[in-house]
Parts: sequence; C-alpha cells; structure tokens
Amino acid sequence: MRCLAIVAVAVLASAAGGCAGDGGATESAPDLGTIGIAMPTKDSARWIADGDNMVKQFRALGYRTDMQYADNDVQKQISQLNSMISAGDRALVIGSVDGSALKGPLQAAHDKNIPVIAYDRLIRDSANVDYYASFDNFKVGVLQATAIVAKAGLKKGGRTCRAELFAGSADDNNARFFFDGAMSVLKPYLTGGTLVVPSGQTKFAQVTTKQWDGKVAAARMARLLAGADRSVTLDTVLSPYDGISRGIIETLRQHGYGSGGKRLPVVTGQDAELDSVKLINKGVQAETIYKDTRELAKVAVQMTDRELSGETPEINDSKTYDNGVKVVPAFLLQPVSVDRSNLERVLIDGGYYKQSDLG
Ligand code: GAL
Repeated sequence: MRCLAIVAVAVLASAAGGCAGDGGATESAPDLGTIGIAMPTKDSARWIADGDNMVKQFRALGYRTDMQYADNDVQKQISQLNSMISAGDRALVIGSVDGSALKGPLQAAHDKNIPVIAYDRLIRDSANVDYYASFDNFKVGVLQATAIVAKAGLKKGGRTCRAELFAGSADDNNARFFFDGAMSVLKPYLTGGTLVVPSGQTKFAQVTTKQWDGKVAAARMARLLAGADRSVTLDTVLSPYDGISRGIIETLRQHGYGSGGKRLPVVTGQDAELDSVKLINKGVQAETIYKDTRELAKVAVQMTDRELSGETPEINDSKTYDNGVKVVPAFLLQPVSVDRSNLERVLIDGGYYKQSDLG
C-alpha cells in the first residue's frame, strides 16, 4: 500500500472557483485534489450512471473529479490517461476500453505514485494496477445460463432445445468470465444432447462481439438465421449484455420471431438497462443481470479514498483476478438475476428506477 500523507487543504470549492457541474468538491467538504475517472463509452446507459455516481460520491468526500469518456477508442483513452497524469490527478479510476492496452500510461502513473483502480473491467498485463472493483463475473454467466435452463425448460433426457451463443468483446477480460460461467451450466446439456447449437459455434473465439456492439451482434444473428434450416426454431439465445440482447431481438423479430405463433427465444442480458427492463416488463427479453452501479461506485470510491488516506482498502477477493502479471486484489459485488417476476421488487423498490420510467 502506498502511504501518502494527505494534507487536506481546507479550501472550499466555491472559494476555488468550483461550481456544480465542473467536477469541483462540494461546499461543505475540503478540497482533497482531483481524481481522474476514465470511462469507456457513453453508448451504454450503464457507464453514464457509473460515472455520475462516482462523481457525486467523490465530491461528497471533498475530491474534485476529471471524468473523460473514450468513445470506445483505445488511443483516445490512452491520451486521456496521459493528460490526467500530467495534470497531477491524485488517483485514476479506469473502466478500460481494451484491458491489455494501458501498460504505458499505467507505468507513468506508477512513476508518479498515482494509484490505479480498475473499474469493473480488469486491466491486464501490468503490475501497476492496485485494486479491482467489480462484480462476481463468473457468477454473472452462471445466472444467465441458469435463467436459460429454467425458462427454456432444459432437462436432462428431456426434449431437445436449440440455442445460439453470444459473448462480449474479446479485449474485455469480463467477456471470458461471463462466457465460462454460462458454459459451466450449459455444458452438461450440450454434451448430453438436450441442448443443440445449430451453427455449431460454441467456442469463445467464435461467438465474441466486438466492443459489445448491438449492431455487430444483430448482424451475426442475421447471418446465423440465414444459414439455418428454416424449419428449425431457436428456443434460446445466450446474450451477455442488454445492448447485444436488443440487437439480437431486433433481428429475431425481423425473421418472424415474436409473431404469428412463433415465440421469441429466451434471450438473456446484463446491466438492467432501462430499454431492456422495459422489454422484460413486456415479456420480450427474458432476463437481465442487475449490477447496482451505485454500489460499484461506492466500492471504487472507498478504495481510492482509503488508498490516498494511507489506509487499507477493503477487499474480499485476493485470488480470482490474475491479470497476467499479478493477482489484483478485488472487491466483488453480487449480481442479481432479474426477470418479470422480481423486476418491481428489485429495481423499483430498490430505487434504481421509478415506476414511471417503465412507461
Ligand atoms: C462489461 C461489463 C458489463 C457490460 C459490458 C458492456 O465489461 O462488465 O456489465 O457493461 O461491459 O458495456
């Protein structure tokens, strides 16, 4: 652990020219310096929520924030990190675009004694990652596949179900964890023959979706359907993330699923994005995995603040996340599977969305 002595400069944000929206510290708290928050993209609602939650929480403690979105562009994220480092940001919280591409800026951060927290996505191939804030990513996949088993009615020795499989972006460490978790549940059905993948594409490398892009997934779904025997209908599609799920569902609908007695397959998801939650509420998407971004932000803020205060950040996992150079100490939250039956209790009663958001 880095033991940085903190001089809490008691300068009020207002006195330093800070005001709402510029990432300045709140009026009642001291100014503890600036935290660089590097987020991957605004394409997906969740990363916007993650970023906003962190800004709010850091400011409440007296930090300023310098938050940058990289538009899924690796080089852009690298230059954003470099500018945070040269601007003297005290710590970096990074949701990486490509988990293996940040060695350079991380070395520069290390040389300036700037701690680095990997946010939701593990940063690989670097010793200069201090902590990892995420969810139990293997369990995410287990929950998605468990929903498939229950909702598509998979049974050993039962009728044959047909599935196509999708995974996330290969440059994101999480994608492999989600897929492996799902396959740990689906494997016995695949080997036992009650689950069949018509395309034969069951390997991670065959089913990844570049940059988690729903359009890329929609195009692959269209290719799979075009190549399939028309008399064969799909019972389920493993989808790792809501944006991908919506792309898949759109293609399925264009191919006649969801009308004329041809039921939509059971399609999974992740992130409880509002557009998907609405589809779940209407019985279109079967489920999603809810990961409370307010809680994840809390974990990352706690890790950063403790590290900067010379205290020991709280972790609950010190063995799972080997980044190729070291095992990164992590705090993993628990994901929750949400379908139509528990949507209201979990998401509305839990304050994540309002009833009126559902439309
Ligand atoms: C992953 C993340 C998922 C999902 C996906 C696409 O890294 O764990 O929850 O957000 O990226 O953004």
